[in-house]
Amino acid sequence: MLPSQALLPAVVFALTALRALASDTFLAAVYEHAVILPPATQEPVPPRDALALMNKNMDVLEGAIKEAAQQGAHIIVTPEDGIYGWQFTRESIYPYLEDIPDPVVNWIPCTDPSRFGPRPVQERLSCMARNNSIYVVANIGDKKPCDSSDPSCPRDGRYQYNTDVVFDTQGKLVARYHKYNLFRSETQFDYPKEPEAVTFETPFGKFGIFTCFDILFYEPAVVLVSKMQVDTVLFPTAWMNVLPFLTAIEFHSAWAMGMRVNLLLANTHNTTKAMTELSAHPRLSPTYPPAINWSLYATSIKKFPGENDTFSGTVRKDIFTFRELRHKDGNYTVCQGDLCCHLVYQMSNKTRDEIYVLGAFDGLHGSLIKYHWQICTLLKCPSTSLSTCGQPVETAQTKFEMFSLSGTFGTSYVFPEVLYSGVQLAPGEFEVLRDGRLKSKNGMSKPLITATLFGRLYEKDQPHPLRISL
Ligand SMILES: *[C@@H]1O[C@H](CO)[C@@H](O)[C@H](O)[C@H]1NC(C)=O
Ligand SMILES: *[C@@H]1O[C@H](CO)[C@@H](O)[C@H](O)[C@H]1NC(C)=O
Ligand SMILES: *[C@@H]1O[C@H](CO)[C@@H](O)[C@H](O)[C@H]1NC(C)=O
Ligand SMILES: *[C@@H]1O[C@H](CO)[C@@H](O)[C@H](O)[C@H]1NC(C)=O
Ligand SMILES: *[C@@H]1O[C@H](CO)[C@@H](O)[C@H](O)[C@H]1NC(C)=O
Ligand SMILES: *[C@@H]1O[C@H](CO)[C@@H](O)[C@H](O)[C@H]1NC(C)=O
Repeated sequence: MLPSQALLPAVVFALTALRALASDTFLAAVYEHAVILPPATQEPVPPRDALALMNKNMDVLEGAIKEAAQQGAHIIVTPEDGIYGWQFTRESIYPYLEDIPDPVVNWIPCTDPSRFGPRPVQERLSCMARNNSIYVVANIGDKKPCDSSDPSCPRDGRYQYNTDVVFDTQGKLVARYHKYNLFRSETQFDYPKEPEAVTFETPFGKFGIFTCFDILFYEPAVVLVSKMQVDTVLFPTAWMNVLPFLTAIEFHSAWAMGMRVNLLLANTHNTTKAMTELSAHPRLSPTYPPAINWSLYATSIKKFPGENDTFSGTVRKDIFTFRELRHKDGNYTVCQGDLCCHLVYQMSNKTRDEIYVLGAFDGLHGSLIKYHWQICTLLKCPSTSLSTCGQPVETAQTKFEMFSLSGTFGTSYVFPEVLYSGVQLAPGEFEVLRDGRLKSKNGMSKPLITATLFGRLYEKDQPHPLRISL
């Protein structure tokens, strides 16, 4: 999970990155749950108290699941940490964990609750799925005992995993996924020795599943889509909004578009629900977006000439190369490392008290965990002082008549982001051409905060085991 901090209005999540076909669709629901948190204590509570707290959260989820099923949903996604929260030490989370078997055991906890000894959380989730005849996606904690015959067994004699589970319409456990890319404060959990690419088939397409911070890395997120060719990704998350490039709605919708896959996600913090119809097999749809060569246009043109007036600015801790957009319209290029970013733009109303820049970044991001970003961004600065460029900004007044942004990316994994004033998405108002240009369509209805091409060079990331951060 990513801890909450300065949250923007959290968001509903049902991203139809791909338009559904008239036939061969399914109805999906997501429920963003405001988790009822246990008391913040370092001491483990008695198991009975842990179960009581989890039941309180499951009471709320049960209402949402019933309602979704009554409205015809085939599947419902609930958030990461949605049943007990995130404020734990390794010891204090222990009473909340259940041993979760591998789905190959073919188990319906609702009808066979004592097969593996008491597992009340799995039993209840299974019954919610079975009673309502709906796939239920939830995030709970798994525990697996180990001993000294396993050299990496933790000192307390058990592995503890942040785990997604899926129960089908019969209540059968059909998927179990142990989160691989733990966020740095998740010291209550271990990550699995190897990343797990978990998929399952349904009458409405092939599904894959991963959790929160996983979405920023190659394994298992990209593997599920590019290699295993899932139709829909399930994504329980507890996401912290980070401007300018990583607010939940912005980055998650961009990832779904860049990967050309359905993404169903539920975040914590805010009670919202949404239902949407999706294509069961988007790759077969006539509206499936074409593959994009993200560098084709940018490598085909000369750098736009212009004033040599770049400057450095920081976006959180990353040092970007920026150039101010001085005029109402223009063509600009900014380069950093191997990346050159080109922008053609026209503003409809430029005022003196709003400054925009074109920025480029090509390098390792992160302090404890280093992973490679390539970013081209058209970005509003929070004030008229250039030294503030790169700091978060939530509102703007300048509308753009048009923009076209491209970059000489060294990757095929680029996620297109457009954010309007008030941290709002701009669905239908931009497009990505096959040659890699992110372009506005027919004028934009609201003032712009940022238009960004967020690229990931996974092969330059630090290897995963180095990401341990205890
Ligand atoms: C929750 O989301 C709704 C709708 O997006 C928003 O109006 C509300 O302010 C949000 N509440 C919190 C506490 O973020
Ligand atoms: C499921 O249905 C059974 C029988 O109708 C009922 O006893 C049980 O409480 C229900 N459980 C859930 C989780 O809906
Ligand atoms: C994209 O276009 C560039 C420039 O023409 C070319 O070198 C590269 O091979 C293309 N990439 C792919 C994946 O087709
Ligand atoms: C632009 O300025 C940089 C230093 O700020 C310098 O290295 C570079 O040669 C200049 N380029 C041109 C075309 O003047
Ligand atoms: C900017 O580039 C576009 C092509 O992308 C060209 O049509 C236009 O004339 C250029 N404008 C300027 C001011 O150079
Ligand atoms: C620019 O246009 C937008 C939308 O019409 C408006 O809200 C904003 O106030 C305008 N800004 C200026 C500086 O006129």
